Amino acid sequence: MNFNKVLEQKKVEIEQMIAGYLPEEKGFAAGMAQAMNYSMEAGGKRLRPMLMQEVYRMFGGTSAVIEPFMAAIEMIHTSSLIHDDLPAIDNDEYRRGKKTTHAVYGEAVGVLSGDALLNYAYETACRAFTMEPVSERVGKALTVLAGKTGIYGMLGGQSVDVTNEGKEMSREMLDYIYKNKTSALIEASMMVGAILAGAAEEQIAVMENIGERIGLAFQIRDDILDITSTMEELGKPVFSDEKNHKVTYVTLRGLEQASRDVEMISEEAVRLLKTFPQKDEFLEELVCYLVNRKN
Ligand code: IPE
Ligand code: IPE
Ligand code: MG
Ligand code: MG
Ligand code: MG
Repeated sequence: MNFNKVLEQKKVEIEQMIAGYLPEEKGFAAGMAQAMNYSMEAGGKRLRPMLMQEVYRMFGGTSAVIEPFMAAIEMIHTSSLIHDDLPAIDNDEYRRGKKTTHAVYGEAVGVLSGDALLNYAYETACRAFTMEPVSERVGKALTVLAGKTGIYGMLGGQSVDVTNEGKEMSREMLDYIYKNKTSALIEASMMVGAILAGAAEEQIAVMENIGERIGLAFQIRDDILDITSTMEELGKPVFSDEKNHKVTYVTLRGLEQASRDVEMISEEAVRLLKTFPQKDEFLEELVCYLVNRKN
């Protein structure tokens, strides 16, 4: 089977699995559950759960204990998108080819459903304890997931990103923003996969390093697409960064250098992946595919 077919098939399987973990739309708060599910079901590449599953399998994992974590990382990511699109942050009206959550349900429900989805992610990940009640691995995976999401991870990055719009920015600060707002959740995905499969400490550390690179290349590609793509192809508005007076990797390094860097950083990630005796061809192909991704 060719790569694109496998990619699509994996995405569909992941979506079916995640659907079983979404909140029920019942009772007085049904409206909020609806808003949470609206954003979760809007689509997206499902890259983070895919990476998590792939790393888990690469290290020999076979149990369903990975599933609540795959659902959880996609919930955390989606909650970050709901909030990222809010008027107070990037103020964008389209996401995943549809109106953003706040545009459909209003700003208050946008704020609350983003929070609720973030919390539901942990409620979901904790369901792994019903499968493996005394698992040290599950505890460790939860610790990594929470840490990479918070002040020392994605949320830290988002805060520095949004409070420095229109200001001069050092390379050091830009690197901090990218490492945290984007790499952190990709690092978490790969580390959780490795942890739950029982990988060794050094292997988990290498996976963190690989995740950092994939995340950096991924965010630079996102910045490139923001100025070279179309809303139809991306499913979200183009020129969002310019609108928000953002200094990005592309404004600092130029479009051509940025493209070369995406390639170089991704090659580094593949090189590190190849240092493992366990081979995962799909994972390597996935990293290469991301270099030229169109959405
Ligand atoms: C968008 O992430 C936010 C960034 C970190 C650039 P994705 O490009 O993975 O968004 P979806 O999940 O496919 O919609
Ligand atoms: C956001 O980066 C990364 C998140 C943690 C949500 P962007 O603001 O560039 O993401 P897009 O372009 O809106 O998807
Ligand atoms: Mg943003
Ligand atoms: Mg944005
Ligand atoms: Mg962007």
